[in-house]
Amino acid sequence: DLLAEIKSLEEAFTIDTAKLKAITKHFVSELEKGLSVEGGSIPMNPTWVMDFPDGHETGTYLALDMGGTNLRVCEITLTNNKSEFDIVQSKYRMPEELKTGDSDELWEYIADCLQQFVETQQSEKPTQGKIPLGFTFSYPATQNYIDEGILQRWTKGFDIDGVEGQNVVPMLEAALQRRGVPIVVSALINDTTGTLIASAYTDPKMKIGCIFGTGCNAAYMENCGSIPKLAHMNLPADMPMAINCEWGAFDNEHKILPRTKYDIIIDKESPRPGQQAFEKCIAGLYLGEIFRLIMVDLHDNKDVHIFEGQDIKALRKPYTLDASFLSAIEDDPFENLQETSDLFKDKLHLSCTRPELELIRRAAELIGTRAARLSACGVAAICTKKNLQPCHVGADGSVFNKYPHFKARGAQALREILDWPAKSNSAAEDPIEVLAAEDGSGVGAALIAALTHKRFSKGN
Ligand code: BG6
Ligand code: GLC
Repeated sequence: DLLAEIKSLEEAFTIDTAKLKAITKHFVSELEKGLSVEGGSIPMNPTWVMDFPDGHETGTYLALDMGGTNLRVCEITLTNNKSEFDIVQSKYRMPEELKTGDSDELWEYIADCLQQFVETQQSEKPTQGKIPLGFTFSYPATQNYIDEGILQRWTKGFDIDGVEGQNVVPMLEAALQRRGVPIVVSALINDTTGTLIASAYTDPKMKIGCIFGTGCNAAYMENCGSIPKLAHMNLPADMPMAINCEWGAFDNEHKILPRTKYDIIIDKESPRPGQQAFEKCIAGLYLGEIFRLIMVDLHDNKDVHIFEGQDIKALRKPYTLDASFLSAIEDDPFENLQETSDLFKDKLHLSCTRPELELIRRAAELIGTRAARLSACGVAAICTKKNLQPCHVGADGSVFNKYPHFKARGAQALREILDWPAKSNSAAEDPIEVLAAEDGSGVGAALIAALTHKRFSKGN
C-alpha cells in the first residue's frame, strides 16, 4: 500500500515549527562558535571585504566565476552610476572530469578560458599593465589577505588532489603567466560575499547574501569587535568585516538536524563524508539524489510494490537525477501528472501507475519543502544573531531561482520561526524578505576588486 509509504516519508522529512526553532537556536550558537578562537564546525571565514560600496566605484575589472556548475568570465565597467554598469561575458562549460581530475588540468583549463576571453575582448584596446581580476572561488578558503585563498576543503562533489591546504591564487596566476596573459588576481571572493556586496550596492536594505544553488551558503557583515579569532590583530571594534559563513558545515556533528537513512547514504558515498551536513540536505547537487535513493529503496523493499517487474537499471546510477528533474515533477499539474510520467519513461525507462505517480510527486514535495524550511533556519539565525529585523536578504542560485515554491516555503518557515503574525501570505509584508540578488560574481566581484584598491592586500 503506497499510502503507508507516503506516510512514513512524511514523518521522516517533515520539520515542524518547534524543530525549526530548535535548529535556529542551535544555529545561532554555532555561528558564534565559528567566530571564537577555538572555532567550531561552521568556518565563519573573514573575507577582508571591509566596506559596502558607496556607489562611486569606477574602472574596468575582470571577474572569473568558478562556482561548480559553470565557469563564467566577465568584463565589468563601473561608471559612478549604480544603474549603469556595463557587462560583457562568456560562459564556459565546467567539464565534469575536471572536478575529480588533476590540479594542473584545472588551472590550465581556467587560464585557457581567461586567455580566450581577454584576447577577444581586449584586442582593440591598448593594454596598460595587468588587468585586475576578481576571482569568485566558491569553496571554503582561509584568507589572511583579500588576494589569498587557502582551500580548506573541496565541497559540492569536487575532489582534486593537491589543492586543499594550498593558496589557489598563485596556482591560477602561474597558469596565466605561462600563457603570458596580463592578469593579476586582486581579490578572491566567495559567491555569497559577492552576492552580499552586489545586492547592497543597489538596495542598502540588503544585509545578507545567500546562495541556494549547487551548494548552499551565506555571508553577512560582522563587526571586528565580535570576531574573537581576529582579536590579536587589534582591528577597531566597529570596523565591518564580511564573513563567509560556510554554513553548509552546520551540524557536521549531527546534533540537531533530523537525518533520514537517505541523508546517511548521501554522506557516506560522497567524496567528503562527515562534511557539509546542512548543505547535503538543502543544496541542488543533492536533491535529485535524495529522491533517487528513496525510489530505489522502495523498489528494493519486497513489501512495497513500486515499479514492480520493471528493470530499474537506469535509476540505480548515482547522481543521475538533478534538481531540475524534481522541479519538473513539482511543476506538473496534479490532475494527470503527465510530465512526470513522461520523464520517468524517457529518462528512466519506467512506466508508472497513478498511485506511483502520486508517491513520486509527494516525495519531491517533501524533499523540496524540507530544503526550503531548513534554509530558513540559517537566514533566521543570522538575523537573530545580528538583530537584523527588518532587512532584505539577497539570494542567488539555481534552486532559489528555479525550484518551484522554494521562496514561498522558505518565507512560510521564517514566519513560523520568528513568530510573525500571519497577516498575509505575501513575503513583501514580512520583516525579513528574501529577494533575488544582483549578479554577485559579476558586479559583486568587480565592486570588491574596486574596493580592494582602498584596502589591505599583500605588500601594503
Ligand atoms: C550564479 C552566481 O548566479 O549562482 C554564482 O553568479 C553562484 O557566483 C551561482 O556560484 C550559484 O548557483 P548554482 O546553481 O550555479 O550553484
Ligand atoms: C558550497 C561552498 C561555498 C559556496 C556554496 C554556494 O557550500 O563551500 O563556498 O558559497 O557552495 O556555491
